Amino acid sequence: MSGPAGLTIVRDVAGLRTQVKAWRAAGRTIALVPTMGALHRGHIQLMETARAKADAVIATIFVNPTQFGPNEDFGAYPRQEGKDASLLTTAGVDALFAPSPSEMYPAGFATKVSVAGLTDVLCGPFRPGHFEGVATVVTKLLLQALPDVALFGEKDFQQLAVIKRFTADLDIPVKIIGVPTVREADGLAMSSRNAYLSAEERAIAPMLFAAISKAAAAISKGAEPAAAVSEAKDAVLRAGFRSVDYIEARRSDTLSVLKKGEDGGRVFAAAYLGRARLIDNVAVG
Ligand code: PAF
Repeated sequence: MSGPAGLTIVRDVAGLRTQVKAWRAAGRTIALVPTMGALHRGHIQLMETARAKADAVIATIFVNPTQFGPNEDFGAYPRQEGKDASLLTTAGVDALFAPSPSEMYPAGFATKVSVAGLTDVLCGPFRPGHFEGVATVVTKLLLQALPDVALFGEKDFQQLAVIKRFTADLDIPVKIIGVPTVREADGLAMSSRNAYLSAEERAIAPMLFAAISKAAAAISKGAEPAAAVSEAKDAVLRAGFRSVDYIEARRSDTLSVLKKGEDGGRVFAAAYLGRARLIDNVAVG
């Protein structure tokens, strides 16, 4: 099926495989960019990077029910496929795979992909089952499309680490590429969930990035990580955030707690502003 200006829209796995087979026969390499839609400039950056890495780009849009908890925003998550399809066309994407829930999870579906360790920290304890949902759906998307490369944003840094872990562990033949976070002019990380912010909350939102950047700078100058992140947490709450799930300094590779003076750190944050749960992270140094 064709979307705007020739974007091929595919809704079932068989159609996706037919498309991929045709590109393979023509010797084309393939990049996959999984998304849940409600596309913003961060996603477009993923598509443009994908274009530079492969001959054909497939974007996926699937609001994956299994990665949302019972009290989370699955129902409210913004859905705008027509607008997204136009954005993908402009970004030079070749195909959009937009399956239905029953195509992804047919009756009798009973398998979960679970990653130990990396999912026990940061968002893991606050969103039970979330990373299993992500790992399961991304495994399926990778095996359905069998791309050469797949691209994910660094804003969801823990998700990226989990995806790198299970693709290596399960010998899925794909290269996972992380793409740096795209930010608004005031520093707020681009996110589909920014749409939940009122005008007043939107003015406060960049404080999260400001606070973790300050903590990261202090740590790189030798501050005790625990003290720096505790100061960041106070600053975020003072700015008007409703609650903070965590602000922590951890190692980028293993996500273990960062020790004073240790290299390769990152400051990670998740906090509620109104009904929006915002996450962000910045490198130390
Ligand atoms: O980052 C997202 O949008 C989702 O978690 C993903 C990777 C598309 C899986 O549903």
